[in-house]
Amino acid sequence: MALLPSQPIGVFDSGIGGLTVAHAIRKLLPHESMIYFGDTAHLPYGDKSEAAIQAYSIKIADILVKKGCKVIVIACNSASSAAYELLTEYVRKDIHIINVIDPMVALVLEKFPGKHVGLIGTKRTVQSDVYSRKIHEGKKNIHLHSLATPLLVPMIEEGFFKNQISHEIIARYLSDESLKNIEALILACTHYPLIKNEIESLYKGKVAILDSSEVVAKALKQHLEDQRLLNDEASVAHHQFMVSDYTESFEASARMFFHQSVQLERHALWN
Ligand code: DGL
Repeated sequence: MALLPSQPIGVFDSGIGGLTVAHAIRKLLPHESMIYFGDTAHLPYGDKSEAAIQAYSIKIADILVKKGCKVIVIACNSASSAAYELLTEYVRKDIHIINVIDPMVALVLEKFPGKHVGLIGTKRTVQSDVYSRKIHEGKKNIHLHSLATPLLVPMIEEGFFKNQISHEIIARYLSDESLKNIEALILACTHYPLIKNEIESLYKGKVAILDSSEVVAKALKQHLEDQRLLNDEASVAHHQFMVSDYTESFEASARMFFHQSVQLERHALWN
């Protein structure tokens, strides 16, 4: 069956971090409906094995395809590094998969040739080496310096930022020897836009802080335009939010990530 512009966009992450991407999509494409899935039962993905993340991603893709999504955005770096290739093979060929890594790599290749660029992300993303491989393939002589920063996701999920302790943890990570003399820093985790201001203030404007949400939203728009799948401007967007486990503090955190209140439904990956 051919895809229709009125079908929703599927977006997923391990938790609510991907709502930073969903927020950018809503801003750029206000007439598009989204179905968001946060796999909170298995959060954090950053310290899981590749095989585990692949299994969760397949289950989530099944749900999003069944719900009629016309495209799926993997709004998570850990899942993009572990499961992007697999998902492109697995889902119906006409349902395009967008990851958060390729649009960022394209931006870095364009804007920072020959430069020293830092990257912070989860252990899974950093160990996968996917950014350095793709940046290297672009042959722009970019020197990438990657650092796993595993305390940041739990800290942010707990709503623990813009305070003295978060400031110290962030400062400790960023003062790591490997990040000396960088000119740009890739936020290779979709949770990190929430601490972007803190990171910017530490660098005092000397390092460009690169957050993927807007470039991913632009890549999505481009795909929908190319495939003639953009919804028409008269339609009113309706968003649905699902999580695989539910805690009370969650809706409050979701509001911070999405900049508007959301109603979360619980949907287990396995029954
Ligand atoms: N937000 C996810 C990412 O971009 C991962 C966070 C996690 O679950 O560890 O990598």
